Amino acid sequence: MNDMTAIEYIRPGLEIAPQGVGGYDQNWYPVMMSADLGAGEAKSTDFMDGRVLVYRGASGRAYVRSAYCRHLGADLGVKSKVVGEDIRCPFHAWRYDAAGQCVHIPSGDDVPAHARLFCFPTAERWGLIWAFNGEQPLYDTPHFTVADDELETRTFLHVELPQDHWVLLSNSCDFQHLHALHGMTVLTRPGMVSRPDPHHFEYPVVFEDPKYGRMEQFCRVFGTNVLTLGGQMQGQPLHTMFAAMPLPGNRTQGWTIISTRKGDGSEADEQRVQMMLGGGEAFFRSLVDDDDPIMRRAHFRNDSLSASDWALAEYFDYVRNYPRAHPSAKFIV
Ligand code: FES
Ligand SMILES: [Fe+2]
Repeated sequence: MNDMTAIEYIRPGLEIAPQGVGGYDQNWYPVMMSADLGAGEAKSTDFMDGRVLVYRGASGRAYVRSAYCRHLGADLGVKSKVVGEDIRCPFHAWRYDAAGQCVHIPSGDDVPAHARLFCFPTAERWGLIWAFNGEQPLYDTPHFTVADDELETRTFLHVELPQDHWVLLSNSCDFQHLHALHGMTVLTRPGMVSRPDPHHFEYPVVFEDPKYGRMEQFCRVFGTNVLTLGGQMQGQPLHTMFAAMPLPGNRTQGWTIISTRKGDGSEADEQRVQMMLGGGEAFFRSLVDDDDPIMRRAHFRNDSLSASDWALAEYFDYVRNYPRAHPSAKFIV
């Protein structure tokens, strides 16, 4: 699906097409923090090469839709009104229902046949509102190996960088950089990577960090934009997720979610929870601080890998074969 002519034109040595060429990877993308959207609120935000409306109906349910009204193109994130589960445009008050269909024009005119918004499959999990790039989700929303209600979670906006999301995720299986830049020793060996289906890429990984000690983790990539690491840090359970969304201009915004086993109600265990969330956040912020200036300025290319890049090579092959589409293109741009 990738258009090699376009890649060569964009950058020599980049052997995977930039997002937007042949569509966008068909992923579950986080688009907004849950805490930023109250019941009855409507906001719009940049997403892929356009803009989407995110609103919460009176029921509390969140919806991700194309942002621009199908009448004269008003941005529905500006001065619109949520009416029950519907959204009413501020410009001429056309009203769209929860299925994105225009159901009412106050002047009494017939509703034009194509007057509907694009409906992204929407989910809410880990303090984030997610949209799937497609008509139907191709896999479940990203999750940990432990049940959601067993975990105490902290979610924060972490980075914005001028690279595609799959480039940022390549960091996790870039074992040369984990050693050279972050000072960690990686004990994962060839043959340990698996692809259970076209939407997941996973491997066990053991790090030895000079400050945080030995960490035995299971790494699972969902789509090409979410990385989960589950395991132990200093003998305690720690589960981490990095989740990224594509922005116009091949920029990426990413959130980090840190979680550990819920406290048992005792003061001592509450201290453990806070220590794990605080320690996990400090650790992942320190990694991104190391990476940020390099990823910000890199002209990323991947045509000169060496033997130690075996896991990276498998990851790039996974990304290269990942499905792309852009069914909302006519609505969000
Ligand atoms: S632009 Fe939305 S109703 Fe006219
Ligand atoms: Fe890194």
